[in-house]
Amino acid sequence: MKVSASAPGKVTLLGEHAVVYGKPALVTAIDKRVTVLAEETNSGRIVITSPDLHLSGLRMIMSGTSTHYEVCADPSPAAVYVTEAVRTAREKMGDITGGDFEIHSEMPVGAGLGTSAAVAAAIISAYAGLQDRRLDTRELSEMVRSVEVRAQGSSSGMDPTVVVNGGVLYFDPNKKDTRKLNSGRLYLLVGYTPRVMSTGESVRRVRTLYERHSGTVSRVLESIEDLVTEGFAALASGDYAGLGELMNINHGLLSALGVSSLRTEEVVHVSRSAGALGSKITGAGMGGAVLSLSENPSIRKRIAQAVSAIGAQPIVLSCEPKGVTVERRSG
Ligand code: PMV
Repeated sequence: MKVSASAPGKVTLLGEHAVVYGKPALVTAIDKRVTVLAEETNSGRIVITSPDLHLSGLRMIMSGTSTHYEVCADPSPAAVYVTEAVRTAREKMGDITGGDFEIHSEMPVGAGLGTSAAVAAAIISAYAGLQDRRLDTRELSEMVRSVEVRAQGSSSGMDPTVVVNGGVLYFDPNKKDTRKLNSGRLYLLVGYTPRVMSTGESVRRVRTLYERHSGTVSRVLESIEDLVTEGFAALASGDYAGLGELMNINHGLLSALGVSSLRTEEVVHVSRSAGALGSKITGAGMGGAVLSLSENPSIRKRIAQAVSAIGAQPIVLSCEPKGVTVERRSG
């Protein structure tokens, strides 16, 4: 049995970090995917390879009822998500006789593009596929969420939900309310620079600030919630200029929460000068992806040239309606 499972990445239009405190967010799946090609073997081992992700420092051996990880050096962040995904799949679905898993990613890892959630969703779906099982979206999102909790210490459930379901979502973690929205005409671009902190560290940084200044930080989080409510209406009515303004305000509030960096600010300001309707951190911040919204493809091209000129990597994106996909082939 051979299985190909894939999951999209994501960008957050509005609301990251506040979503960890139960506030809603606007998030979209993107047309960049992680694909896992899995093949059943009788080796008693799960062998993971990836030409694109940096999986250094790790060798994983599955035998009998136990999984054994040989950590040769500090495992890279991608390796941690991969091992936790396999561990979660084995706990929930039992053993397989063995398997070769090859991971391909169209996105950098640890960038704010939801690569970690997409890797986990694709591995777990491929594992289920090898057992001829079909996981429903709720069950799969919950498993991906538990991978994130193990790998980074906490998870709002936003990334797991959007990479599993696809589409543009209004995500409310408290009300378990996920609404799919019409994407309209969103011309998106990411300017990527490497991150200086992991998602877990960045989330803990905000937590420390919250504990030290809970009243003030609570009001910042409530303001982000208001932006999401306004953004929902702006998106529904096709008011992209309004949505861009809300993204700019959201970026200011993320800076106030301490998750911006000099490099991030550079990319944000260069993107705005080149004509972006709005530019902001997407994801956990501290470097990583800066998301810009443009009025049309030619302005987006100008922004891409501008971010490239300061050494950031431009990534053109579209909203992606498809979440996880699984194809099985016998033989
Ligand atoms: O940087 P990413 O793609 O891992 O996104 C993190 C999003 C946060 O809101 C900061 C954390 C979360 O659990 O939602």
